[in-house]
Amino acid sequence: MGISFVLLAPGIAWFAMLPIPFILWGTFLFQSRLAPRYDAVRDQAGLISDRLANNLSGMATIKSFTAEAYERDRVHHDSNAYRRSNERAIALSVSFQPLIRFLILLGFVLTLYLGGREVLRGTLTVGTYGFMVFIVQSLLWPFTELSEIMDEYQRAMASVRRVMGLLNTPIAMPPGHTSLPLNTVRGEVDFEAITFAYDGRSAVLTDLSLYVTAGTTIGIVGATGSGKSTLVKLLLRFYAIQNGRIAIDGVDICDLNVSDLRRCIGWVSQDVFLFHGTVAENIGYGSFDATRDQIIHAAKSAEAHEFIVQLPQGYDTIVGERGQKLSGGQRQRLAIARALLKDPLASADDGKVGGEGHGGSGWVDVMG
Ligand SMILES: Nc1ncnc2c1ncn2[C@@H]1O[C@H](COP(=O)(O)OP(=O)(O)OP(=O)(O)O)[C@@H](O)[C@H]1O
Ligand SMILES: [Mg+2]
Repeated sequence: MGISFVLLAPGIAWFAMLPIPFILWGTFLFQSRLAPRYDAVRDQAGLISDRLANNLSGMATIKSFTAEAYERDRVHHDSNAYRRSNERAIALSVSFQPLIRFLILLGFVLTLYLGGREVLRGTLTVGTYGFMVFIVQSLLWPFTELSEIMDEYQRAMASVRRVMGLLNTPIAMPPGHTSLPLNTVRGEVDFEAITFAYDGRSAVLTDLSLYVTAGTTIGIVGATGSGKSTLVKLLLRFYAIQNGRIAIDGVDICDLNVSDLRRCIGWVSQDVFLFHGTVAENIGYGSFDATRDQIIHAAKSAEAHEFIVQLPQGYDTIVGERGQKLSGGQRQRLAIARALLKDPLASADDGKVGGEGHGGSGWVDVMG
C-alpha cells in the first residue's frame, strides 16, 4: 500500500505516512508504561487467591472464632485493591486507543485536503485521488489494532513473567553426585559441630554435635522452637547449614545424590500432609509399586489397620483434601505407615521405626 502510494502521489504520500512513526513510538512508550500496571494486577490477583485459599482451608477456625465479618472485610479490602489495580491498567489502555485513532485521522485529513487541492489545481486526476482516499484507510487503519495487540500482549506477559520467575528460581542446594544405594545404607548419622540459622533469623543450632550409631533408636527432647524438627530437616537437606558437616555412613550429605539421601530416610513430619485420594494411595505414597498386602502390613505395623477397616470403604476410603475426613491421630498413623512402607525391611521387624538399622533411618517428628 505504502509503495503504491509513493508511486502515485509522492508529494502527498509523506503526509499520509507521517503518523506512522508517532504511532510506533507511542505504542512502545505505551507498552513500557502498561507492563508494570499489568504486573501489579497479577500480583493483586495472587494476593486475593492466597487469601481465599487460606480462608477456605481455615474455615473451621474462622467459624469457631466467629471471625466471618473480619475475614469478609479482609477479602473485601483485597478485592478492592485488585479492582483498583485493574482500573489503573485499563485507564491507560483505553486512553491510548483514541490517541492512535486521532493520529490516523490526522493522516486521513491531510491526504484528503492536500489531494483535494491538487485535484483542483489539476495536477492530480480524480481517479487517482479516489484511489488514494481508499488506500489511505487500508494503510493506516490496521494500526488501531496495534494497541489492542500490545494490550493483550502485555496482559499475557504479566502472567508469563510470574510463571517464568518461578521456573527460573535458581536451585539453592547444589546436588551432590555420590550415590548411596538403598540396600547398603547402614544409617549412621553424624552431625559435626553444625551451625544453622533460617534466612534472616538468629541461629537455631549453634555448634551442635550429635553422633547416632547405626541401628540405635534415640529421642530428642527440647523446648518448643528449640530446633528439633530443624535437625531432621537439615538431615533431609531441605536447608544448607552455615557451618559444620552432616554425614550419613561417613559421607557428607552435601556430596550425596539428593534423591538417594531422601530415599533412605523415612520421615514422618510433625505436620502430617495427606493428599486427596484413598487411604491406600496415601500410605503407598512414595512407594508407588507397593502391593496391597505390603500396604496393609505397613498399616498394621503403624497400628492403623483397625481404624482403617472400620472406615466406610476401608482402604479405598477417600481421605479428603489434606486428610480432613480423618482425625489428627489417624492422619499421623497413616503418615507413620507411609514411612514404614518406604522401607519394607523396617516394617517387617514388628514396626519399630528405624528398627535394627537396615535400609536407612526413620525419623518421627512428634509433639507433646
Ligand atoms: N521455615 C522457617 N523459617 C524461619 N524460621 C523457622 C522456620 N521453621 C522453623 N523456624 C524457627 O526455627 C526455630 C526451631 O524450629 P523447629 O521447628 O526446629 O522447633 P522444634 O524444636 O521442632 O519445636 P516443636 O517442639 O514446637 O516442634 C523456631 O524458633 C522457629 O520459629
Ligand atoms: Mg518440631
